[in-house]
Order: sequence, then structure tokens, then C-alpha cells
Amino acid sequence: MNKSNLGQKLWKRALKAMPGGNGLLSKRPDRYLPEYWPTYYSKCKGIEIIDLNGNKFIDMAQMAVGSAILGYSNKELVSSVNNTSLNGVNCTLNSPEEVYLSEKLLDLNPFAGGVKFAKTGAEAMNIAIRIARAYANKDKVAFSGYHGWSDWYLATNLGKSDNLKGHLLPGLSTDGVPKGLKNTVVPFIYNDVDDFKKVLINNPDIGVICVEGARFDYPKDTFLKAIMDIAKKKKIIIVSDEITSGWRVTDGGVYKINGFKPDIVVYGKGLGGGYAISAVVGKKNIMEVANDTFISSTMFTERVGFSAALKTIEIICRDQVWEHLIEMGTIIGDAWMDLSIKHNLKLSINEFKPLISFKLDYGEKNNLINTLFIQEMLKRGYIASNSIYISYAHKKTILSKYIKAVDKVFAIMKKTIEENKLEKKLKGSVRSDAFGRLTK
Ligand SMILES: Cc1ncc(COP(=O)(O)O)c(C=O)c1O
Repeated sequence: MNKSNLGQKLWKRALKAMPGGNGLLSKRPDRYLPEYWPTYYSKCKGIEIIDLNGNKFIDMAQMAVGSAILGYSNKELVSSVNNTSLNGVNCTLNSPEEVYLSEKLLDLNPFAGGVKFAKTGAEAMNIAIRIARAYANKDKVAFSGYHGWSDWYLATNLGKSDNLKGHLLPGLSTDGVPKGLKNTVVPFIYNDVDDFKKVLINNPDIGVICVEGARFDYPKDTFLKAIMDIAKKKKIIIVSDEITSGWRVTDGGVYKINGFKPDIVVYGKGLGGGYAISAVVGKKNIMEVANDTFISSTMFTERVGFSAALKTIEIICRDQVWEHLIEMGTIIGDAWMDLSIKHNLKLSINEFKPLISFKLDYGEKNNLINTLFIQEMLKRGYIASNSIYISYAHKKTILSKYIKAVDKVFAIMKKTIEENKLEKKLKGSVRSDAFGRLTK
């Protein structure tokens, strides 16, 4: 690790050429180790990443923010996509894979009767919300969780600027979001039945409820029941955003195992195994509204995404990949807990194992300690963070080496906390999730 690493140099160029430096908040070095993060990759395969200096790291963090569900450059997937590319990826005529994929998604989501495709999660959510609002003939959306960068979602902060507190990315700015969207989208707290009911009573004109399939914890039965009861009574459309949770605990959404009955389910990220594809899958009568509301884009029909999703789904279903993700996530979560007890660190872990994460309990010092964790793990060859999107390429042998490294790093963390030397031990500045700081 040195300050003149090639990734850091390129990041400085990026900041001059692109506001914010890149297209995705989660890949900015400020979120990890501001001045020392490798930042760019030249190659990635399995769970290995080679940076611009030729250093090799093991990804025990984001795995392309959850999209590389099979691991990087999965052989079967790459070969299938390459074949597609050789036959032409965009054409005046339609690609047949669009039909095959829509049929596959209908098979796997038997409640549904219609599919629309996009490339990114936020685009698919735009489509889902447009269709749901059109069908309900009401504008107002109640939501919990994160649903992308779009106006319909950010508009919630026009009401109260801290409306997104507790929904993954708090404090997002509303600059450029039309003020006229104020009070069109209201938040409720995940898994909090009382708060949900209060929001629904205070907003009798809600037409759409939007929740994540799962993120840190699974939704409670009482929470799902409250949503379904009200939706039924008031003819509200339920959208389950499974962009992050999808394919990680079933052959589709989390909704398939908890009795939740959404009207529309949205997939993205893992669906294409890293290639750009997202899908809105919904009940036939509701999706048919798409005939009357204009949803159309050249790249929605690009072929690689369909081909990648077909192969990714084939592998996920054939190998029941979700079982592996849950097993590996459980091993890591248990190891974190055991090691936190061994080193007397205050730490808790979440319920949703395929996206396993730990939370420190040191108040304002959490970010300092997390930065120390990232710094010390990087020294040992790991791209690490306090949350890991488990992939099919995370095998047990890798895990045992990783756990040994965590053991050493937790010991360092404990000693540094006790000696009150956190700032001193960090080579650079402290990581941050805050949007404001990252963009200034
Ligand atoms: C639940 C959920 N919805 C929507 C999105 C937005 O997806 P994208 O970043 O592909 O636009 C994300 C991305 O993190 C997500 O986790």
C-alpha cells in the first residue's frame, strides 16, 4: 500500500473528468480506505481481483455490489455470452432470448403473467412504479428500503430531508428533483408494524406499497401480513424489490419462502451474473397497463443481458446456488461472532446470510474501527468490508484463510481501541458512507 498506487492516480484523473469520479457511489474509494484503496481492477476471476499495480486481492466485500453472484468471469457464463456476442448483440430484429427469458421468469414466478425488461435496478423500479401507479390510478407510494437514484424515490426527501434515515442511504439530496413531487412518496420503517399502520392511516391516498425482499433481516410475518391486509382492503399494489435479495435464498425472490404475495416483483443485480439486465415481473392484469403507458428504450432489447440472465438462472437452479450462499454466509457470520467473543469486541451480525454483515457498537467510533478493519485486511490481501455479498465462487478453503486473517485483525482492533490509538493507527482518513462528503 502506498500513496502513489496507480489506482489512486487514476482516481484523481477520474475526479477531474467526472463529477463524483464514477457512476456508482458504492465503488468510490471514500467508502473504504480513501487514500489507499486500489480503486481500479485490471482483471477479476472467481473471487480474485488484480489491481492496476498487479496486486492480487481476494474479494470478501461487495462482489460487484452483489451482481457477480456466480463469482467473477464464471466460465460457463462467459462462454455463453461470448457465443451470443459473436452472433450480434443488437439488431433491427428482436432477439429470441428476450422471449425465452420472459417465459423462464414466468415459470419461476407462477403468480405472474407479464414481464418487462430493463438494464439497471433503478430503471426496472421506475417501470414497476409507473405500472403500479397507472393500475392503481393513484400517485402516492409508501416504501421502506433503498430503491435507486430516481426522482420518484428521492422525492421523499422533499417532504422531510431525513426521510431516508434508516433506509440504507440517508440524506440524499433532492437537487433537481421536481418540487411538485413533494408528498408523493412516504417512508415507513422496515419490520415496524405500528409505524407502517400509522403511515397508511395518515396517507389514505396511497396506491402503491414498495418493500425490499430482505436486506439485513428477513421481514417478520406480522409485517408482511399487515402489508397484505391493507393492500387487499384498499386495493393497493404491492411491489417487492428483490434487486438485492433475489436469487440468494430461492430460485427467485425471498417472497417465495415467506408467504408474501406481491403484485409485482423486481429483479436486477444477480439476475445477469454481472451483465446488465433487470426485470419487472407482475400479475397479468397489472402488467398489461404497460400497453397504455409508454415504456421503451433501445438498450432494453440488447441481447447480452438476456443471454447472461438465461445462463445465470440455469446455473443457479441447476446447482441450487442459494444453498451455497446461505451456507458460506452462515460460516462467516458465526466466525465473526466467535472471534468477537474471543477478542471481546462489541459486534452483532444480521439475519440474511447471503449478504452477511456485522455491525460494530462503538457509536461515533464505528467508522474509525471499520476503516482500521479494511486497512488491516487489505494489508493481508483482502478487499474487505463489514458486509459480504457471498458468491458461488466463495469456497470453504478460502473462508478458513479469511477467518484466520480476521482473527489477527480483530486482535489489532481490540488492542487499538483499548489503547485509544485509533486515529494514530490509521494511515489515511476515515471511511464514510455520507453522500455529502463523498461528492465534495
Ligand atoms: C433493493 C435495491 N433496489 C434498487 C437498487 C438500484 O439498482 P441499480 O443500482 O442497479 O440501479 C438497488 C441497488 O443497490 C437495490 O439494492
